[in-house]
Amino acid sequence: MNTTRDGRLGDRRLLRVVYSAEAIRRRVEEMGREIGEAYGSGADILVLGLLKGSFIFIADLVRHVPIPIQVDFLAASSYGKGRVSSGDVELVYNPKASMENRHVILVEDIVDSGTTINRVMPLLTERRPASLEICTLLHKRVAELEWPVRWVGFDAPGDFLVGYGLDFAEDFRHLPYIGSI
Ligand code: IMP
Ligand code: MG
Repeated sequence: MNTTRDGRLGDRRLLRVVYSAEAIRRRVEEMGREIGEAYGSGADILVLGLLKGSFIFIADLVRHVPIPIQVDFLAASSYGKGRVSSGDVELVYNPKASMENRHVILVEDIVDSGTTINRVMPLLTERRPASLEICTLLHKRVAELEWPVRWVGFDAPGDFLVGYGLDFAEDFRHLPYIGSI
């Protein structure tokens, strides 16, 4: 277990490494390729990352998409400082980029209760994209989603996961692997 990169792991216990940096790298590379294969190279694609959790995933993912794409972000907050979802989703940053008649891919770090997806998708649908797909690195498979998730990196355990963008009260996002606390 790599604890030397983060002195703060000393006072909060990381129980185990769930996905190593190498396992993540391999899977993200595959996902980028799969996305490239799903669209023709002439498609007008906007990859939309949900901040902040997806920032590392999207950075790695887009570098493996072998066709031209554009990238923007969307910021919604559903978890406050703790580990329990408040159920409210607030759009803190709404991209100016046009979505009309474009192929939009919403990129999430993790789908848990599904609240974020279920609240954000109608807002994106209103902007009349040609298609709208969801891509998530992790899926806890507990959510009742009104939309199918097209690309899933890993089916995640129910544990609270941190690292590779995922936080607990803003800590641990920078870890190169995903662990549970
Ligand atoms: P949902 O709205 O319950 O599906 O939760 C989605 C958001 O909550 C994700 O984008 C994460 O930011 C956060 N989240 C859910 N589960 C976890 C977890 O295990 N670790 C860290 N963040 C999580
Ligand atoms: Mg979060």
